[in-house]
Amino acid sequence: MSKVWFITGAGSGIGAGIARAALLAGDRVVATGRSLDKVRNALNDVASENVTFIRLDVADEAQAKAAVEEAVKKFGRIDVLVNNAGYSLLGNFEELTTEEIERQFATNFYGVMFVMRAALPVMREQRSGRIINISSLAGAVGFKHCAAYAATKFALEGLSLSVAAEVEPFGIKITIVEPGFFRTDLLDARNVRWGNSVIEDYAAEGSVEEIWSPYDGTQSGDPAKLGEVLVKIAGMENPPKRLIAGSDALAVVQPDLEARLQEIRAHEELSSSTDGSF
Ligand SMILES: NC(=O)c1ccc[n+]([C@@H]2O[C@H](COP(=O)([O-])OP(=O)(O)OC[C@H]3O[C@@H](n4cnc5c(N)ncnc54)[C@H](OP(=O)(O)O)[C@@H]3O)[C@@H](O)[C@H]2O)c1
Repeated sequence: MSKVWFITGAGSGIGAGIARAALLAGDRVVATGRSLDKVRNALNDVASENVTFIRLDVADEAQAKAAVEEAVKKFGRIDVLVNNAGYSLLGNFEELTTEEIERQFATNFYGVMFVMRAALPVMREQRSGRIINISSLAGAVGFKHCAAYAATKFALEGLSLSVAAEVEPFGIKITIVEPGFFRTDLLDARNVRWGNSVIEDYAAEGSVEEIWSPYDGTQSGDPAKLGEVLVKIAGMENPPKRLIAGSDALAVVQPDLEARLQEIRAHEELSSSTDGSF
């Protein structure tokens, strides 16, 4: 049966890739973004009566509510919510201001929270729904220069795993996606944010901007292929709770998890030594 998708940040990269894949699969799509022109242009080649465009800045809770209401008015339901909108703030933690980090959370974490809050009552009433939350490899493993970005993605994962357990009885399933490097506009100079201050001690290895900028345009992941995979995931009776996307991400997460298990085993005695006797 044809599904109704609601996708945030659908005007470029992974969001546009998912929207296109869903439309090509015969589903209907509510493609949202801060700039309607940008979203329309991105999906120009697949425009049809199966797609509708709604303005949504995810950092604005009232807009999230209104966008979900408009989507339900248009297509009657929401089967798959994809929380994709996001940007990256990169810099050594000490070089980032509290305000910069708060702004990063406003989009990458609170944005997801606002849209989930708006869509969950619709899905609960339907007694069905899928939520796909786009995290990151940086939501699974800590990386230099990614403290703020990773913090938002780890928070998103904690939110997703916990809410998943609460809403499963209503037929709602949540999948976290952890992409490696995908060729999108994420590291484009217009989107990425760099910390503004520089602390000399950290400058020895070169500026964060110099280190990360070369990745822009050279990432191996293909957003169109990720879109096709997510269409498959949305059709699964038992979708994964976490999906790693890209062999670069697999190559990092697998050894990290093995190392964590080893560490747990190596310190088992210390861990259980904290038990009290009552
Ligand atoms: N590409 C990667 O390597 C990679 C890796 C791991 C995770 N991810 C995640 O994948 C998701 C999509 O990013 P992408 O790689 O596809 O980059 P992208 O091409 O820059 O797409 C991000 C989209 O989010 C939108 N957006 C940003 N802030 C928004 C807001 N407040 N409200 C609504 N839309 C907003 C942007 O639109 P505007 O024009 O309005 O800014 C843009 O269309 C992000 O959550 C990112 O963290 C990407």
